[in-house]
Amino acid sequence: MNDAPHDLEFVPLDADDDETVGQWLDLTAVATAAGPRSAPPCNVDLVGSLRFAPPATVLDDWVVRAGDRVVGSLRLALPEGAASVRVDQLLVHPGMRRRGIGRALHDHAVSLARKHGRSSLTATVVESLPAGPPQDPAPAAFAAATGAHRSGIPAGVHQWLDLDRHDPLAGGVPATPAGYSLVTWGTVTPDEHAVPVSRLELSLGDAPADPAQEDVRASYARQFETMRVGRGRRAHHTGVVHRATGTLAGYTSVSKTTGNPAYALQGMTVVHRDHRGHRLGLLLKLANLAYVLRHEPGVRLIETANAEDNHPVIALNAAMGFEPYDRWVFWTRDVGSSD
Ligand code: ACO
Repeated sequence: MNDAPHDLEFVPLDADDDETVGQWLDLTAVATAAGPRSAPPCNVDLVGSLRFAPPATVLDDWVVRAGDRVVGSLRLALPEGAASVRVDQLLVHPGMRRRGIGRALHDHAVSLARKHGRSSLTATVVESLPAGPPQDPAPAAFAAATGAHRSGIPAGVHQWLDLDRHDPLAGGVPATPAGYSLVTWGTVTPDEHAVPVSRLELSLGDAPADPAQEDVRASYARQFETMRVGRGRRAHHTGVVHRATGTLAGYTSVSKTTGNPAYALQGMTVVHRDHRGHRLGLLLKLANLAYVLRHEPGVRLIETANAEDNHPVIALNAAMGFEPYDRWVFWTRDVGSSD
């Protein structure tokens, strides 16, 4: 079917344009309700995202109108120094699909990517796991129709923990191994941990002992916090300190939006390579869950995602009661050639 509205108009999404932002929020709410399992959208978080981008990333937000109605949206993320543009949102109102609006949004994304001097587009597409519930085939069919292909990057396994069905804390929090102690903090990283947190996050625990550019690395944690605070998010962290050296050996982070008391996101868990083999990952996650529930007793559902080849972490999550739900598959297409 191809009865695309003839009066499509692309408009940059301006955080100060209350009417358009309101229509974009409505569109996101309707599409999320019709889409794959996810936390309900939080308006404070979404509006905040128009003003506070992730670290070292520029966001380029657009809506497409038919007449005076917003019928689709596009968010491009431009990570500093990358050759590609990430499509974070390419969304068509569920009642307006199969009319060519998705293709028009895609064409707009391609021309913006070229304008920004990038050579490719990447996008995450929700697909079914072999043993998981069936997912809408439209996004993958659409991605293929636009000339994209699955990239070689391992897909993410999206997992949920339902605390009403599994209580990972039933057996308590394991003892902290000798020579280590736990520390906790909230949304803002204490000064003494800002550099170590940034290094652990950026290197996934594989940083050399004497890294250069510590000032830059410290700013990563601060930029991340600025985004979180600007989006009204709260975060809860547990870290593990190696007492003999005073080194932050690892940490884990759970965050949540303002609007959904029952939902939280298990984010980064990292243990430096020099401190692996002590079951610190499980300790951090369980200790932090107890910390989260002390501060956020309404949390019942926690989601997380890990690369599907990260078997140790997926097994650790399964031991806590996380259940794999769907796959986040990376698609890519070159924008150097014409369509
Ligand atoms: N089944 C099979 N093929 C489909 C389907 C479907 N349900 N939907 C789109 N396609 C393919 C078809 O080849 C279609 O061409 P055709 O209609 O001439 O056969 C082509 O995609 C273009 O379709 P459009 O009408 O332009 O797309 P639409 O406006 O329906 O938007 C979209 C598609 C964006 C995937 C929509 O379903 C949506 O908003 N889904 C939720 C958000 C989402 O998952 N976005 C990720 C997109 S993937 C990416 O950005 C690369």
